[in-house]
Amino acid sequence: MNINNTKLDLNFVKSQFPAFKDPMCKKWSFFENAGGSYVPQQVINKLNEFMISTKVQPYAAYPMSKIAGANMDKATDYFSKMINANIKEIIIGGSTSINLYVLSNSLKYSLKPGDEVIVTNQDHEANISPWRRLSEVGAIIKEWRINPHTAELDINDLENLLTEKTKIVAVTHCSNIVGSVNDLKKISELAHKKNAIVIGDGVSYAPHGFPNVKELGVDFYTFSLYKTYGPHLALLYGKENILKKLPNQNHQFLENDYPYTINPGGPNHEELVSLIGIYDYFLELYNHHFHNENLEINQKIEKVNSLISSHEEEIANELLNYLNNEKKYCLIGKDKISNKNRAPTISFFSKYKTSKEISDYLIKNNIATRNDNFYAWRCLKALGIDTEDGVVRLSMTHYNSKEDAQKVISALKNFD
Ligand SMILES: Cc1ncc(COP(=O)(O)O)c(C=O)c1O
Repeated sequence: MNINNTKLDLNFVKSQFPAFKDPMCKKWSFFENAGGSYVPQQVINKLNEFMISTKVQPYAAYPMSKIAGANMDKATDYFSKMINANIKEIIIGGSTSINLYVLSNSLKYSLKPGDEVIVTNQDHEANISPWRRLSEVGAIIKEWRINPHTAELDINDLENLLTEKTKIVAVTHCSNIVGSVNDLKKISELAHKKNAIVIGDGVSYAPHGFPNVKELGVDFYTFSLYKTYGPHLALLYGKENILKKLPNQNHQFLENDYPYTINPGGPNHEELVSLIGIYDYFLELYNHHFHNENLEINQKIEKVNSLISSHEEEIANELLNYLNNEKKYCLIGKDKISNKNRAPTISFFSKYKTSKEISDYLIKNNIATRNDNFYAWRCLKALGIDTEDGVVRLSMTHYNSKEDAQKVISALKNFD
């Protein structure tokens, strides 16, 4: 086997995911990754181990309980290292929607009437509604709108919206419909000049490479772990100096116990521990392709990320090119990925068929996809697309192959 450090070894990747050997799953090309990904064996193992040996209330002094608690802390610590944060900056909750809802409930106490909050119409509703609700405490909500022809957000428009009164900018790192990657670093720099905080939604970005939150400069960043090869949980990062001061949303006596102040009820224990399996999987990917042991974990992640993006670019560009040149379809977003300016999350619709008809047809061809608005309801509205029928979304990740993309292209070519 020719393993090198410039090309992702897809056979190795697939061998880590039991779904590819499962009698039901294995005949499908899976294109619903932006909805939720498959999990590697390492995650299943950690979940099983927890359920068999340590399924007790954690943090007591007997061994099963001690180990359960230690593994919960380990999972949080590993994830903090993977995204270049510290353990006190990580909140693991039930979903991104819940995490952002709790965060907005806490941030609302720092707003006064007339303060401004900027939301986009490109985001998933999870990063819009909690901030729009701040109008209840007198905040003025401003909308950073996409260009209806390109579906992209223009940073110049943000500059025009920002004022001395702006307190919050909520924006997606990558749209779950358009696929575009927004420049969170630049957005954070602009917002910080006005002393506003930035809440980045990384749900559609993180499955294609865990971020370095310090480099992005965001104040809060969130992603859903069930889309990054794990169980149904979500991670919220917050800068420690801000988290420390946020009003408590948890039991009253936990007032000074950040970040639990923003995590009422805490996460599901067994699922939290299974996150160690994601860390183990990414380390195995690193060790399989590279040999330098002396790097920090986030540096290893960066190297794995670049393997993943080159692979994703290769498999997605063929499909983007086909959809862009096929007159009967309208592709949303950029027609080419280069330098990670786009995720392989590809949405389109037809001039002649409903999105449901296309999706049903693809499913008949063993291509797992769906039509929907994917809760980016305002984005579809702005593009003039029926929000009921929605778009067809084909979302790939690093375990998809060129053959998967070619299967979609030949199916669509035969669809009249
Ligand atoms: C971009 C984006 N943000 C937020 C969410 C909400 O995530 P959750 O299901 O964890 O609440 C989703 C879910 O699909 C999403 O795609």
